[in-house]
Amino acid sequence: MKSILAVALLIATAPLYAAPFDKGDPKIGKTLVDKSCLSCHASMVGGDGSKIYTRADRKVKNPQQLAARVAACNANTGANWFPQDELHVEAYLNQEYYKFK
Ligand code: HEC
Repeated sequence: MKSILAVALLIATAPLYAAPFDKGDPKIGKTLVDKSCLSCHASMVGGDGSKIYTRADRKVKNPQQLAARVAACNANTGANWFPQDELHVEAYLNQEYYKFK
């Protein structure tokens, strides 16, 4: 029964994972962002830092810019993520904040 539910859930949520960042896992991305990215943004915009993604004059306007920004900020932090990690983070930020199709 559980596995049937899991499959049904997968099918139901599949569109959320579709392009443009369908190779990333948002759950893994959230863990990575929480660990390496929040404090710096929080010191800039307050709260938990997530306002940086939703502010009116946010810089990221399309999936390419999101990927570029994640790569740049990753380099800044010295977190040394693998490319796959950046994909997870992009998938998470897109699903949660940017919602590019
Ligand atoms: C050392 C500080 C610092 C850290 C750590 C940091 N960032 Fe940033 N981030 C910035 C700054 C500064 C900006 C704003 C750049 C601007 O306004 O032009 C920014 C902006 C962004 C944006 C774009 C927001 C917008 O305007 O749409 C994204 C996405 C982002 N960061 C992702 C990340 C991720 C992912 C990490 C973790 C690897 C991270 N950042 C860690 C300093 C940091």
